[in-house]
Amino acid sequence: MTDQRLERLRRLAPELRLLTDAADLEHYGRDWTRRWTPAPLAVALPASADEVQSIVRWANDEHVAVVPSGGRTGLSGGAVAANGELVLSMERMNRVVGFDAVDRTLTVQPGIVLEAVHNAAREHGLAYPVDFGARGSCSIGGNIATNAGGIRVIRYGNTRNWIAGLKVVTGSGEVLDLNRGLVKNASGYDLRHLLIGSEGTLGVVVEATLWLADPPPPTQVMLLALPSFEALMQVFAAFRARLELEAFEFFTDRALHHVLVHGAQRPFAEDYPYFVVAEFASGSEAREAAALAAFEFCVEQGLVLDGVISQSDAQAAQLWRLREGITESLARHKPYKNDVSVRVSAMPAFLAETQALIERGYPGVDVVWFGHIGDGNLHINVVPPEGMAQDVFVAQCEQVTDLLSAALARHGGSISAEHGIGLVKKPYLLDTRSEAEVALMRGIKRVLDPNGIMNPGKVFDA
Ligand code: MLT
Ligand code: ZN
Repeated sequence: MTDQRLERLRRLAPELRLLTDAADLEHYGRDWTRRWTPAPLAVALPASADEVQSIVRWANDEHVAVVPSGGRTGLSGGAVAANGELVLSMERMNRVVGFDAVDRTLTVQPGIVLEAVHNAAREHGLAYPVDFGARGSCSIGGNIATNAGGIRVIRYGNTRNWIAGLKVVTGSGEVLDLNRGLVKNASGYDLRHLLIGSEGTLGVVVEATLWLADPPPPTQVMLLALPSFEALMQVFAAFRARLELEAFEFFTDRALHHVLVHGAQRPFAEDYPYFVVAEFASGSEAREAAALAAFEFCVEQGLVLDGVISQSDAQAAQLWRLREGITESLARHKPYKNDVSVRVSAMPAFLAETQALIERGYPGVDVVWFGHIGDGNLHINVVPPEGMAQDVFVAQCEQVTDLLSAALARHGGSISAEHGIGLVKKPYLLDTRSEAEVALMRGIKRVLDPNGIMNPGKVFDA
């Protein structure tokens, strides 16, 4: 049965690269969540939009589910194939296909790695400013599918802000050429934005046109040690008022512990409970004086206990490593991840409530807090106690997440700030989105993907 379906696909697209070896199924069937056992039917590696369209049409005829796949660095299970799906890996479609100096756009295939997009923009004297730790592995198609955020959202916004045009193959096999790089386009519903963040449930991106920005100013990085959670938002306000912030990130002593174990260099001789990495425009006396003034103000107010400022790119990279190394340093423990957001103005009240909730929910457990505090986005990672079975651990964590999700609903927040709903956060979708909204989302899926073949079971059940 299986072979016949794949044989028919081979006849439809004779040049298509198809993998069925056990090692390939294992490799392409999972993402960074590592919670589900991969079990795809096969892996297709198309080289063109035509091949993608043939695959999607075949999948409709054969009723085979398709899991679009980029760098599989996702943390919500959005790219997991555990139920006989066809993995549609875009990794061979990884080229820059055009640059326009007047429009200041870069047109790329979806499988291009984010870092290659950064480099291509830099070669043209411009910048693609969306950035995060997985830059060396994640693909632009996956970034678009999750409306990825990261460390510079505070300054540049999410991926959505930078998408000038999208070519997609919808679940029904139609090719749409959306927005075509137009700055102004008041011609009805903007379907481009519907596809961005849809986690592969409506269609698959086959080409993207990205806006580029001016190259960033010279910057410096400060690492600050703070006495309390309460000080965080006050330091943020003080820094935002005085400096042109490019990033403002926080982490706790537990996060520092894990990155130090993982080989990072200890920043301060003393121990402190909370840390901030702030990057800001520098390169002039006025800017440097403003940075010093912001720091001194916070020290005088008792909001900052210690600090260090980068004097070179190498030092800046070293300080960033303390923040960017957290995910990798935790990965071997298979932590339970929360990626939540509230409005920045709601953060002080939400932080206080959440801290109490987490302390009650996880007595004596290693809970690692970090995140993009300037965006109202917290990552709360829970490390399983030694020897605890994964299913028991996840079940316990989900009880706490029920409470966290209810707290988010009270504060008008979201159960997924930037990782997506995927499989991991599906049980909590209705705390964040109303029943009417989810019903509309289902209706939209039925229109674009009438046979329900695009990443079924992700975001909501079929
Ligand atoms: C990060 O900001 O480092 C990742 O989005 C968070 C994570 O690993 O939970
Ligand atoms: Zn993050």
